[in-house]
Amino acid sequence: MVNLAVDINGYTLKNPVMTASGTFGFGEEYEDFIDIDALGGIVVKGTTREHREGNPYPRMAETPSGMLNAVGLQNKGVEHFASNIYPRIKHYDTGIFVNVSGSTIEDYVATAERINELDHIPGIELNISCPNVKEGGMSFGVHCPSAIAVTEAVRKVYKKHMMVKLSPNVTDVTDIAKGVEGAGADSVSLINTLLGMAIDAEKRKPLLSTITGGLSGPAVKPVALRMVWQVYNAVKVPVIGMGGIMNATDAIEFMLAGATAIQVGTGNFVDPTMTIKILDGIKDYMERHKINDVNELIGGMHV
Ligand SMILES: Cc1cc2nc3c(=O)[nH]c(=O)nc-3n(C[C@H](O)[C@H](O)[C@H](O)COP(=O)(O)O)c2cc1C
Repeated sequence: MVNLAVDINGYTLKNPVMTASGTFGFGEEYEDFIDIDALGGIVVKGTTREHREGNPYPRMAETPSGMLNAVGLQNKGVEHFASNIYPRIKHYDTGIFVNVSGSTIEDYVATAERINELDHIPGIELNISCPNVKEGGMSFGVHCPSAIAVTEAVRKVYKKHMMVKLSPNVTDVTDIAKGVEGAGADSVSLINTLLGMAIDAEKRKPLLSTITGGLSGPAVKPVALRMVWQVYNAVKVPVIGMGGIMNATDAIEFMLAGATAIQVGTGNFVDPTMTIKILDGIKDYMERHKINDVNELIGGMHV
């Protein structure tokens, strides 16, 4: 028997494989493809205080080895989640994390307070890093004082696990990681998407309505891996790694760089069963390398 369970600062995931926010709906959308309960955790769609329409179309574009998106946190608001979605998904035997976003600190606080009331939600992922929302999101996550302020404010009202999701669109990601750790984050997750853009040369028009958008997928993996390793060496709280993970080898690389758990994002669009394949591949790697405990992989890169 091998141990696949990992501890993220007081909360145990049955295995390190999670799904990334905005790429896995509320889990229900994938029920026909995989057993949701087999996953270590799921992070549901970005949720805000009020209903949001998101950005105008087009808001997705394929790029070499990745994609750009500018969905802009389309969602029906936290009350809709709590009253309509939560009752349908609360039976999942996996860690359900709600990705919380907002335009003001008050928005984040109000959303987190409502989620705090939901017994079967063990944690939130505080999204201070969304590049696709003009008036908020990323602007919190790219400046240390605002990242600290929003984390501190939510910490006061949110009593369960608070994971803070970091932006790669910064000069030094470790500054922000240390800031939010000091402000009460139980763990940090990274990376959110990298700011990018694409142009249709024939039409001389941008491919996204917002002109710029967030780049994800295999194209961002080396950047993500580097940032996970830097943050792992800078903070004491667990690091949850993501960015271009498409197979078990990618996932293992993130763990060797210091991730306690990993999230699969864009990969879910390529193959809706990718998370399960990654889990099986991790088990296979452990067997081949005679590893009994997956925790041995965390930060296990030899330098
Ligand atoms: C279509 C789409 C929607 C996303 N929505 C959110 C979101 O609502 N909140 C969030 O924190 N991240 C969101 N993300 C970012 C992902 O959770 C993840 O951080 C990023 O895509 C990098 O991982 P990947 O390369 O495996 O996709 C979204 C990404 C995509 C592609």
